[in-house]
Amino acid sequence: MTKTTIDREWQLSAHEADNDYLHHEAFRPVDKEITAVDLDSMGDIPRDIDGVYVRNGHNPIYQPRSGRYHWFDGDGMVHATTFSDGKATFRNRMVMTEGLLAEMNAGEGLYPGLRDGFAAEERLKNSSGTDVLLHNGEFKTLFSRCGQPYRLDPDDFRTLGPDDFGGSWSRGVSAHSKADERTGELIFFNYSFNSEPYMEYGVVDSDNQLSSVTNIELPGPRLPHDSWITEHYTVLHDLPLYWDPDLLAIGKKKLKFNRDMPSRFGVIPRYGSGSDIRWFECEPTYMLHTVNAWEDGDEIVAFGFKQLTPIPDIPRETPSARVQNYFLSFQFNQPRLTEYRFNLKTGQSSEHIIDQQCLEMPTINSRYLGIKNRYAYNTMAAEIPYFLMSGIQKFDLQQQLEIDRYELPKGKYMGQPVFSPRLGSQSEDDGYLISYVSDGASAEIYIWQAQTVGDGPITRIPLPQRVPGGSHAYWGNGEDIRNAQARRRNAGA
Ligand SMILES: [Fe+2]
Repeated sequence: MTKTTIDREWQLSAHEADNDYLHHEAFRPVDKEITAVDLDSMGDIPRDIDGVYVRNGHNPIYQPRSGRYHWFDGDGMVHATTFSDGKATFRNRMVMTEGLLAEMNAGEGLYPGLRDGFAAEERLKNSSGTDVLLHNGEFKTLFSRCGQPYRLDPDDFRTLGPDDFGGSWSRGVSAHSKADERTGELIFFNYSFNSEPYMEYGVVDSDNQLSSVTNIELPGPRLPHDSWITEHYTVLHDLPLYWDPDLLAIGKKKLKFNRDMPSRFGVIPRYGSGSDIRWFECEPTYMLHTVNAWEDGDEIVAFGFKQLTPIPDIPRETPSARVQNYFLSFQFNQPRLTEYRFNLKTGQSSEHIIDQQCLEMPTINSRYLGIKNRYAYNTMAAEIPYFLMSGIQKFDLQQQLEIDRYELPKGKYMGQPVFSPRLGSQSEDDGYLISYVSDGASAEIYIWQAQTVGDGPITRIPLPQRVPGGSHAYWGNGEDIRNAQARRRNAGA
């Protein structure tokens, strides 16, 4: 039977701000950290799920100093569920960043918000609330506006502190830097609006030591969000949606989509230097999330969600507090699954949309990140204009067609799922899809068989606390975590 303990409670002050993200039932922050063991379930929890499902998201505690709130200002909170031997334990924990600790000491918000002017960018709090991955046996949280990753204990999700890659890195990395589970490396990029270099790119090895880092020359400050990796290359994004440079020069921020500029994708050898990068020009677009990429003869084939309308026309009467939602809403920017090909021999590129549905927030079996794979699990954009998804599409990247789909009951929504390979897994889709599913007032964990996702969840696990809408999720294999812990013990670390 589920046993729940409250580990910490606090008083929220951010909810005073006037903003849809703070008041919509799907996003309202929670004010408790809990641990719930021996979770009851409807349907057995499969005994061959071994590992941790972690989802990051923004859970604001203090109001930004300006009082204007952007969803991504919220402090990072992980919602982590550990599966072992048919049992599950849920914990939610704040990412205790240096900024949040300072605010807790002061008892008030100390930082500007994302909706403040350009001058505030240098003082932004690294909330570390966007993304999460497993590297060197620890979970690491990442911030979309770049910041040092934060290391989390993989057992109890205590924040272990900012990650300086063995003392060699004091600057930030972006969300959607990549963990290559086959080599144990972390492949990262960052970007800056403030000063050159406008982008850096590097690799951290499986022992968390910096292997290589280089400057990437860009024509000016940009706003990339994701990247691709293959076995030997990384593909970086220079997209024509970024802050208007004329306004930046006078300290203001306004996103501008330059419809007459190409999108550029830069292919760089994994350990290459900035001078090695080869840029491929494609149609103007913006892309939040990629799916996967791999090498195919002379070409790199890469799948991602190209937006049809990166900056949609916004009705003039739209309240300013809601304008930001258009940029963050898939119903407005209309992403489409697109195949890109970059030919390293000829320098030519090609692209074509391979599915006409409004999908995003994908996941794959992460053992296949960077190598040829078949299955993408994309999620369907829900009707309400936020980062909420209404179901899963299983897509065959080889045949380029949808092969299965599951739609949640009306009124429920999910975020990005994770793929958990079954213990003893025999094939790419031999495993489970796992996601928090919520109706706003309460939350559950849904578990689907990835081979028959359309049949609906085989197990549902009610949770004793809400899980607000969030951002990205990762599956940490139990064996990977234990192996890394043993390696550190043996090394005397
Ligand atoms: Fe993202």
